[in-house]
Amino acid sequence: MEFVSVENLRPFYEGKKVLITGGAGLIGSYTANALVEIGAEVIIYDLQKSNNPLITQIEGDIFDYGQLKSVMEGVEYVFHFAALLGVERIEKTPHDVLRVNLEGTINALKAANECKVKRFLFSSSSEVYGEPERIPISEED
Ligand SMILES: NC(=O)c1ccc[n+]([C@@H]2O[C@H](COP(=O)([O-])OP(=O)(O)OC[C@H]3O[C@@H](n4cnc5c(N)ncnc54)[C@H](O)[C@@H]3O)[C@@H](O)[C@H]2O)c1
Repeated sequence: MEFVSVENLRPFYEGKKVLITGGAGLIGSYTANALVEIGAEVIIYDLQKSNNPLITQIEGDIFDYGQLKSVMEGVEYVFHFAALLGVERIEKTPHDVLRVNLEGTINALKAANECKVKRFLFSSSSEVYGEPERIPISEED
């Protein structure tokens, strides 16, 4: 597998305003740090606070459409990571998970569309493939 150095992405993101929903979570916080490293202006939008004091943080719910939209004004790129995860949680509270992961994503897409965001990035999950037959999972599995 070939890894792209984050430095190669500098021409795309340097000086650009980027919003990361769920930016205090695992994937979001790594993404936020990497984007700051290459000169992006990063805003995190999450229910909880991230531990990076260098990043603008807005405590907000993906369902607060008014706030989400106002934070998205002038943003060029959105990374959408706000989600509820975990097989156990999905089994115990499927409606909560569906609400955040589906309705929340629709909300984020609507706001991005209204704010004329250039690009919206959504990460899926390897769980869509079911139980892996081998680790690491390859693109062909
Ligand atoms: N962790 C992985 O290995 C992995 C791999 C591939 C894809 N993904 C996908 O990336 C996304 C993020 O995963 P993660 O591991 O960073 O999860 P995480 O649980 O660490 O982060 C999710 C973040 O979303 C926030 N959030 C939840 N509900 C919210 C709401 N209503 N409003 C605002 N924020 C809310 C949480 O506070 C949390 O900080 C998910 O869609 C996941 O499926 C994760």
